[in-house]
Amino acid sequence: MTTVNPNHAEFKTQDAASYNPVAQSFDRFVTQLSAPVAARLVALAGLAPDNHVLDVGAGTGIVALRAVAEMGPSGRVVGIDLSDGMLEVARQNARGRGLADRVEFRKMDAESLDCKDGSFDAVVSLFALRHFPHPETALQEMHRVLRPGGRLVLAVGSGAPWLSLVGLVHRLKLLPHVVRRFQGKQLVACKFLDGMVAAYVPSSGKSEEAGWTHEHTHMQQSVPAFIRAAGFQNIRSEWQGQQSIINTPEEFWELQTTFSSLSRKRLATVSSEVVARVRQDFMNTCREVLSRGGELVYPTGALLVSGRRA
Ligand SMILES: C[S@@+](CC[C@H](N)C(=O)[O-])C[C@H]1O[C@@H](n2cnc3c(N)ncnc32)[C@H](O)[C@@H]1O
Repeated sequence: MTTVNPNHAEFKTQDAASYNPVAQSFDRFVTQLSAPVAARLVALAGLAPDNHVLDVGAGTGIVALRAVAEMGPSGRVVGIDLSDGMLEVARQNARGRGLADRVEFRKMDAESLDCKDGSFDAVVSLFALRHFPHPETALQEMHRVLRPGGRLVLAVGSGAPWLSLVGLVHRLKLLPHVVRRFQGKQLVACKFLDGMVAAYVPSSGKSEEAGWTHEHTHMQQSVPAFIRAAGFQNIRSEWQGQQSIINTPEEFWELQTTFSSLSRKRLATVSSEVVARVRQDFMNTCREVLSRGGELVYPTGALLVSGRRA
């Protein structure tokens, strides 16, 4: 169980620091697993060739680099993040793709943007809102820096909506997976590692996630409501998800210790002997499941919400 830490400055510093050692593996997994949602997010932004775009919580740059590559030579992107490690990998990626003159990665807090009013045509943000202790402040900032008529598109991790065709189809497709899970033939990230880590390493009392995510578990309602409250109009939502099969227990471990805030942060607080014990238990369980003909699964689900500044 995660506890809520009232010291948000400390929370932000620790959250950013927790990404530094995993930035390279984060980049590798994001490239493998987040390309479809990043592509959809950029498509929803409806960018013109000369737009100026802000990517909030840019990480290693998957969205920022896609956006700048899709625009013309005068298109510009600023990606902001608080993690030095993530920013460094993002800058390397920009240089490696010959895009460094049109995309800039800056260290900045989403809740206090050092950007002029009305200076962007579009603001995008993938899988970052859940990290901000005050999402309403971050969204007001995104609204402030957008020009009138500018577009916001953000995505948060979320289960499939129950009352929609896409949600229904997704859940029907999941049925064989649920059967396999009950037969002990499927392990699902990041619940699998999080459960194991929570058993070995009790919470230190420090927040692993921003407190509001525990009060607002229904992202399909709360995120559009936050966006409306920040002053955006024409709000639209859609959902997309996929199940990825991970080939080896080693890859499954690295993926979850990279992507799960709980596991990443708790394992960083204990000795290497404890980490080795958790890893051994993890590997043994994965191998047992695979020997029964089972599979290691990483499900992703993203709620994409867009809005326009009046
Ligand atoms: C789950 S990662 C997503 C990164 C990237 N958008 C992607 O999808 O690959 C969340 C990112 O938000 C950043 N972040 C967390 N709190 C932040 C804040 N207050 N301001 C700016 N960035 C923040 C983290 O450092 C991390 O890089």
